[in-house]
Amino acid sequence: MTKFRAAITGVGGYVPDYVLTNKELETLVDTNEEWIISRTGIKERRILKGEGLGTSVLAINAVNQLIEKTNTNPEDIDLIICATVTPDMVFPATANVISAEVGAVNAFGFDIEAACSGFIYALSTGTSFIETGKYKKVIVIGADKMSSIINYKDRTTCILFGDGAGAVMLEPTEEEVGVLDFMHKADGKGAEYLYMKAGGSKMPASHHTIDANLHAVVQEGATVFKFAVTNMADYAAKIMKRNNLTGDDITWLVPHQANKRIIDATARRMDIDNAKVMLNIVRYGNTTSGTIPLCLWDYESQLKKGDNLILAAFGGGFTWGSVYVKWAYDGK
Ligand SMILES: CC(C)(COP(=O)(O)OP(=O)(O)OC[C@H]1O[C@@H](n2cnc3c(N)ncnc32)[C@H](O)[C@@H]1OP(=O)(O)O)[C@@H](O)C(=O)NCCC(=O)NCCS
Repeated sequence: MTKFRAAITGVGGYVPDYVLTNKELETLVDTNEEWIISRTGIKERRILKGEGLGTSVLAINAVNQLIEKTNTNPEDIDLIICATVTPDMVFPATANVISAEVGAVNAFGFDIEAACSGFIYALSTGTSFIETGKYKKVIVIGADKMSSIINYKDRTTCILFGDGAGAVMLEPTEEEVGVLDFMHKADGKGAEYLYMKAGGSKMPASHHTIDANLHAVVQEGATVFKFAVTNMADYAAKIMKRNNLTGDDITWLVPHQANKRIIDATARRMDIDNAKVMLNIVRYGNTTSGTIPLCLWDYESQLKKGDNLILAAFGGGFTWGSVYVKWAYDGK
């Protein structure tokens, strides 16, 4: 039987126009530009402004670009998976909203919620559908409008996050390229360190939840930092070992962009030179599910067929993991 691999055959991305600078944050909370840059590596983030605009707006822009770049007939799309923690609504799935808007009339779709690991979880899921041989075009999206769940009075979180979306096309190939391996893990005991308390079935929205500001991200930064450094580096190193790869074999590390110091520590553990690390945290901050596909989008023109990429992420849940991708085309 033919063994199909899932090749990434295109990348689309979108960030909104509004730039939220460190200087503007200085007017909102007791912080300063130097602290933010030295502790996180972030200079600015993008924010989706405008009433009634949700995460789907970011994703639709990214997907439309992807469809155009890959010359895809939307009717040929089989499946759309959207990783997000900020769906337009609890239901229907944001993936369905996106399908309708981009004309993917023959597709089915669903959302994946794995916080900052959402995109790599979704990529592995999409890969598994392609590998069955039954699905020919799968779009995997990472999209978040983090500004919708951030408390802009909390200096420990509001400096970190931004809005954005990236999307990739997966198609079957018989060549030795594409998503070659993935490894994931979750530990629900991490829930107490990074969460949004209200808005779910346990604590639906009420006057109390609004007054107490419970519809916003809460994070114990130092604890999350410690777990992120250990687990992201650990899973990046593990997948390299399982595939007999050394630092020299890796063309690019594509890390989740939560904190530049976490990224540096991961690169050190993998014995990878900083020049081989994709970075856009400085411009976009942490866009949660968006960071990894937005990195691929930003660096696409530099990628070559056969490049070895390690994607690595850590996020709320806790969730984490790594994906080994052999790039399938020369960047355009
Ligand atoms: C949030 C984070 C940047 C904070 O950096 P840190 O070096 O751990 O800082 P700490 O939380 O230990 O705080 C150090 C001091 O800076 C202060 N501080 C926190 N935020 C600040 C800000 N925006 N501006 C200025 N000072 C700030 C703290 O109050 C603390 O002051 P104190 O020592 O007087 O109590 C960092 O912990 C982090 O990146 N965590 C993980 C983020 C992450 O990966 N999140 C998502 C998972 S994907």
